[in-house]
Amino acid sequence: MDILILLSLCLLSCRGTQGQHDHVPKEEHVMLGHKVILPCDVHSHDDSTVQWLYEKNGNHLILTTGPKGTSMEDSDVKDRVKVKKNMQLVIENVQIPDERLFICRIQDQNGLTKESKVQLRVYKTPDDPEITMEENGIPITDESVQIGSCQSKNGFPTPNITWYRNDTQMINEKNGVVVSTQITVESSGLIAVKSVLSSPVYMSDVYSTFYCEVSYHLPKGAYMKESGKRNITVDYPNTEVQIYVKSQHDMIKEGDEVELICKGNGNPQPQITLHRKDEEEALTEDFSHSWKVTRRDSGGYICKALNLDTFNELEAETELHVHFLDPPVLSQESPVHVELGGVLSVLCQANASAQTDIHWTRDGTTVAKGSELNLSLQDYTDAGRYVCVASVTSVPGLTQTKELQVILKGKPQVTVSSQLVEVQDGEKITLKCMALGNPTPTITWYINGSAVDGQNSPISDYEVSSELTFIVTEDFFNERVMCVAQNEYNSSTEYIQLQEKPVTTVTPDEDIGAQTTEEPLPKTGSDSTKDPSIESRSQKSYGVVIVAVIVCILLLAILGAVLYFLYKKGRIPCGRSGTKDITKPGEKDHIVVEMKPDSPAEESVLLPGAQDKKQPVEQEKYMDLRN
Ligand SMILES: *[C@@H]1O[C@H](CO)[C@@H](O)[C@H](O)[C@H]1NC(C)=O
Ligand SMILES: *[C@@H]1O[C@H](CO)[C@@H](O)[C@H](O)[C@H]1NC(C)=O
Ligand SMILES: *[C@@H]1O[C@H](CO)[C@@H](O)[C@H](O)[C@H]1NC(C)=O
Ligand SMILES: *[C@@H]1O[C@H](CO)[C@@H](O)[C@H](O)[C@H]1NC(C)=O
Ligand SMILES: *[C@@H]1O[C@H](CO)[C@@H](O)[C@H](O)[C@H]1NC(C)=O
Ligand SMILES: *[C@@H]1O[C@H](CO)[C@@H](O)[C@H](O)[C@H]1NC(C)=O
Ligand SMILES: *[C@@H]1O[C@H](CO)[C@@H](O)[C@H](O)[C@H]1NC(C)=O
Repeated sequence: MDILILLSLCLLSCRGTQGQHDHVPKEEHVMLGHKVILPCDVHSHDDSTVQWLYEKNGNHLILTTGPKGTSMEDSDVKDRVKVKKNMQLVIENVQIPDERLFICRIQDQNGLTKESKVQLRVYKTPDDPEITMEENGIPITDESVQIGSCQSKNGFPTPNITWYRNDTQMINEKNGVVVSTQITVESSGLIAVKSVLSSPVYMSDVYSTFYCEVSYHLPKGAYMKESGKRNITVDYPNTEVQIYVKSQHDMIKEGDEVELICKGNGNPQPQITLHRKDEEEALTEDFSHSWKVTRRDSGGYICKALNLDTFNELEAETELHVHFLDPPVLSQESPVHVELGGVLSVLCQANASAQTDIHWTRDGTTVAKGSELNLSLQDYTDAGRYVCVASVTSVPGLTQTKELQVILKGKPQVTVSSQLVEVQDGEKITLKCMALGNPTPTITWYINGSAVDGQNSPISDYEVSSELTFIVTEDFFNERVMCVAQNEYNSSTEYIQLQEKPVTTVTPDEDIGAQTTEEPLPKTGSDSTKDPSIESRSQKSYGVVIVAVIVCILLLAILGAVLYFLYKKGRIPCGRSGTKDITKPGEKDHIVVEMKPDSPAEESVLLPGAQDKKQPVEQEKYMDLRN
């Protein structure tokens, strides 16, 4: 573009030189405030007299220069001009009024005069365009109405202002567009241009952007500056209103924050009122109303507005549905007291706005689906907290719970840590018995039919434990110690069979240790179920025992010699108990466990293993004790 302009300028100036003879003056272009050198294109001699003049309603002499020197006239440019040797006129700090035709006139000795003319053109970049759009709403109209104005000051020569809507030029007198331009010449000579845009306003102008552009020439070519983009506010009537509910959730439940919004489809918004369907009084005079809803807020809502053009009443209606769920109600009040062994049936119901899922949980695990909880309370562990969980299926997060505390009352359940304890003469042993019951039972020990005091200590609300410590004498061998737990409902008994320990290297301390490491107490232990099982196990063991005895006797014969030999060498401390210099401690422990009649399976598997050990005599002794 610039190149084109330069080209045309060149053409212009070329034409200027050519046209010198046609009296079309050459042009000089200069920016305001700059310096310009005006040529004098007339052939002259050293002794010629040269005059520079300018034209302003006639010619005015600026200066005369010749062999006698230079004389300056009183002109507009007096202080800013000088003449060069080749007769060129230099003007400093060019001003707007300097845009004139300058004349160089030469008079030779013969009194003949020749002239050359040069037109000075001054330029000044205009200020950035300032755009102002109509701030008030403009109704849609086919007629041309003023929608904005654009001004650019301090330019020279007069710049042009062009308007654009959505980047399309708005041409004066086309499509109803009227662009009127006011040009003001300021005292400085600079020019301010103001362009006022009028146009029909369309519905589509709601989203149109407008801007103006100032275009101007400078010595080097044509330039332009654009204003910022602006919009206008278009007014159009409200022909309908819309009402809707805004909430974070699809399904609204009690306690949710809900916003009821009503809007017109025009601009500006109409005066709106929001009502409940059955109420006269407005909820708000605003277009929106937000609050935390309850079930009472369910129902119809109406938004009303007036179309100010037609005075028609505009209305819209919506339905708000607030879901709710009441805390569940149980058929039995919590806590509920039940006797051990009894049954409990509790119904859980919840009033809700929609289909509700009900289930029961205990410690986070579902124990019953549906509203009915049927419990058969056979064990104290069945007591505790049950929770009814109700949730409205279609409404996420709408859940309520109700706790049911089940308290079991009944006879004690008693357990011992070990039903068979091996003892030695002189050994101090501790027997342990635990009882669960409500009310909390008391534990009494019986040896040989007479009550003995144990050391009782509570474990939890309904559980108590008792320890009985005594020194074993031979009288205790084969004794069955009885642990009786009793409360107001009944008593429960468990037995601990004392047995003489086969002569081994086991120390008493270790024996007690073995007791405590035995498997946890079975929860359902009770005297009535345990005794027969022990008996049957014992009988089943007989066959195995007989085989074992025979094998032992055989082994005895074979190993007798070896043992005797070892004894002679002092390796076996025969008959000495309470020391353990021969067997590894681990082996001893195994034997104690293996011999327990608690686990017949283990017994039958492990007995042959036990026979492998080098203690056939002890095995035999042990078998004898059992008979
Ligand atoms: C109009 O311009 C204003 C201010 O620049 C702006 O906030 C508004 O969003 C614009 N409107 C449209 C429809 O673009
Ligand atoms: C101007 O452009 C906007 C979006 O680019 C459009 O919505 C609007 O209708 C246009 N205006 C006219 C008058 O075409
Ligand atoms: C201004 O517009 C007129 C008419 O369209 C044109 O002749 C002139 O060159 C323009 N001036 C500028 C500075 O663009
Ligand atoms: C359930 O709740 C609704 C709404 O509060 C109430 O009208 C109704 O009486 C309730 N029904 C029951 C069984 O509680
Ligand atoms: C619970 O027990 C009642 C009778 O006591 C019976 O009618 C009902 O079907 C039982 N419910 C369930 C879920 O087992
Ligand atoms: C148990 O009683 C019997 C007979 O009265 C008696 O022989 C035995 O020594 C008693 N045992 C204990 C450990 O007191
Ligand atoms: C106590 O329990 C025993 C055995 O379980 C039973 O035979 C007896 O009837 C019960 N006594 C009472 C008072 O319930």
